[in-house]
Amino acid sequence: MMFPHMLVVFLVIFLLLDDVFAYDIHKYSLLMPEIHPDKDELYLCTPVRIVNKQYYIVGFEPNATMHDVHHMLLFGCSVPGTTDDVWDCGEMAASDGSKNIRRAIPCAEGSHVLYAWARDATKLNLPEDVGFQVGLGTKIKYLVLQVHYSKKFPGNKLDNSGISLLYTEQPQSKLAGVILLGSGGTIPARSISHMEIQCEIEEEKTIYPFAYRTHTHSLGKVVSGYRVRKGKEGDDWLLLGKRDPLTPQMFYPVFNKDPIYGGDILAARCTMENYRDRDTYVGPTNNDEMCNFYLMYYVENGNPLDTTLCLSDGPPKEYWYNSKYNLNNIPDLEASKL
Ligand code: CU
Ligand code: CU
Repeated sequence: MMFPHMLVVFLVIFLLLDDVFAYDIHKYSLLMPEIHPDKDELYLCTPVRIVNKQYYIVGFEPNATMHDVHHMLLFGCSVPGTTDDVWDCGEMAASDGSKNIRRAIPCAEGSHVLYAWARDATKLNLPEDVGFQVGLGTKIKYLVLQVHYSKKFPGNKLDNSGISLLYTEQPQSKLAGVILLGSGGTIPARSISHMEIQCEIEEEKTIYPFAYRTHTHSLGKVVSGYRVRKGKEGDDWLLLGKRDPLTPQMFYPVFNKDPIYGGDILAARCTMENYRDRDTYVGPTNNDEMCNFYLMYYVENGNPLDTTLCLSDGPPKEYWYNSKYNLNNIPDLEASKL
């Protein structure tokens, strides 16, 4: 005979379990298919096609060691760079690539960076109820893993580094997105330059930032990103993230999680030190530069922003101070100091 209070205990346990196991999280390992890195500074890409169903990616588990792998990037694409199992996809590769494989960019169309890994980074779980919606009915039809091997492997040693994707088919109430702020322009020889980007969120949506990533090539000193809100007292600049871009370029928690509204402006600055005797331009190779600030966020209702890119002309044309937003209260010192 069961006492009523025991029944309550069972019920409570059952409800708790039911809550924890409300849906299944599956794991898909997107790995290099036993390849042999046959040269230094090799960038390889491998895809997975996801068109039959809709999935929600809720976490990323790296499967690599810094001994073998310099970095990994996970892209979401509408069209991948090739239809091959593996291709040479080096942004920075100035050489003629590896033997017997094609060269192409990671995504031919609709490129989004969803995750980045570099030395010592551990697993990244998205906040509760947040997921990247991919597959059927979305623009992300393929996931492409890029692995950068800085050193050629000895002998016939093979590699299957990659990323395990934690996903569910259960719709998540908050969808994740990434917006990329990037600058064009020129960094004159023997100078320190600011590459600056700004754009207004023109969609009537509220986004909740939670992670950021910076990217430059070798001349970057500091990259900082802000939310700017126009007000009677002047512009209010809120720091979202700032770091030395030559530290591992992965996603880090934002400094400030305040919601960002339609009408707010996103702004970023890269402080670049060109010690070279030649001008350096924005471009894909190691001889070129880039100034990128990625912001990862979620929305509480509906879809993430349609806007995935925010670009500026950069130096010597476009800066914060002469942009169309008439920015004031510019945190000139803070933005360039670590
Ligand atoms: Cu790398
Ligand atoms: Cu780059």
